[in-house]
Amino acid sequence: MKINSNSNVQIAVVGLGLMGSSIVVSLLVAGHQIIGLAPIPGEKDAATSRIISLLKHADSCGILQRELGYYIQRLHITESYEDIAGCDYVQECVVEDKVIKEQVYHKIASYVRPDAVIASNTSAIPISELQGLVPNPQRFVGVHWAEPAYMTRFLEITCGEKTDLVIAEYVLNLGQSWGKEPTLLKKDIRGFITNRLMYAVYREALTLIEQGDTTLEDADKVFRYDVGSWITLMGIFRYLDFMGRTDYINTYEKLIAKLSNRSDVPAIMEKMVSQNAKGTHNCNGLYSYTEEEAQAWNEAFARFNKDIYELASKYRRLLLTKVV
Ligand SMILES: NC(=O)c1ccc[n+]([C@@H]2O[C@H](COP(=O)([O-])OP(=O)(O)OC[C@H]3O[C@@H](n4cnc5c(N)ncnc54)[C@H](O)[C@@H]3O)[C@@H](O)[C@H]2O)c1
Repeated sequence: MKINSNSNVQIAVVGLGLMGSSIVVSLLVAGHQIIGLAPIPGEKDAATSRIISLLKHADSCGILQRELGYYIQRLHITESYEDIAGCDYVQECVVEDKVIKEQVYHKIASYVRPDAVIASNTSAIPISELQGLVPNPQRFVGVHWAEPAYMTRFLEITCGEKTDLVIAEYVLNLGQSWGKEPTLLKKDIRGFITNRLMYAVYREALTLIEQGDTTLEDADKVFRYDVGSWITLMGIFRYLDFMGRTDYINTYEKLIAKLSNRSDVPAIMEKMVSQNAKGTHNCNGLYSYTEEEAQAWNEAFARFNKDIYELASKYRRLLLTKVV
């Protein structure tokens, strides 16, 4: 593989919906020139205005180091796969549908070099499955971003069975140069790291709620005011160190057998899907929202991400202590 120094890496983002647009902004801010590929004819104008409005938002949050025009001029939005031919790294970000992703990989692979890295933002499709759809699968890797990509440090890199570890480490290094705190999962496990941990929490919380033992509001309060008061600073394992309690093992032994190990989908989730409840996206969710309230949550989320990014930055020096 021809490895360019980070700032010279030619990058394309394929799929310019919600996440693709936000990833484009993150990569522009990180100093790259970007080719944004809108794969569906007629999407280019909408994608262009979405990216420009995200750049303006990033500007209003103080994230841009230069004038807005500088970034716009480093962005080339196209509907033609030919334009990505010279790219070293292609970030796929199309809908979560394996058939559509396969069609898109086929087109990407027919234009880029055989050793160009192809990365998927899939949230849940196993990387080994997607990798099988790509010629030279060793250059395929999962690179999972969090919204809004230009304001979050999260980046989850996952190897499929055939991913070359050298390539995964190259992407890890790239991710660091983008200002992220990437994680590397060397084995392709279902749910990667984040969903694996979060779904364990959702199962337990939804089971307690279904049993009538607690409420949605109280489960949220626990996360906001207990976990929320330390998790950005410490994560879960530094917190164990900080508490330093020797009775964890007793609690573990007594509690673990009480936790849910069900494998059916909780009724609350089934109901949300059958009622097309998309939360703040359509004002129909677990909580009720007027349009103004839904909009206020969207705006608060953007502001909060900036605040928490800055807050975490103040304490980063502490993270230099290493695992034993
Ligand atoms: N939204 C999030 O917060 C989030 C977070 C992490 C990962 N992801 C993952 O990122 C990917 C994109 O999600 P999103 O939320 O940006 O979706 P989106 O619906 O906003 O955008 C999807 C993109 O896919 C393209 N697309 C749709 N049909 C297509 C087709 N037939 N051929 C080619 N392209 C097509 C659309 O043009 C659009 O640009 C998914 O794999 C999703 O699981 C999303």
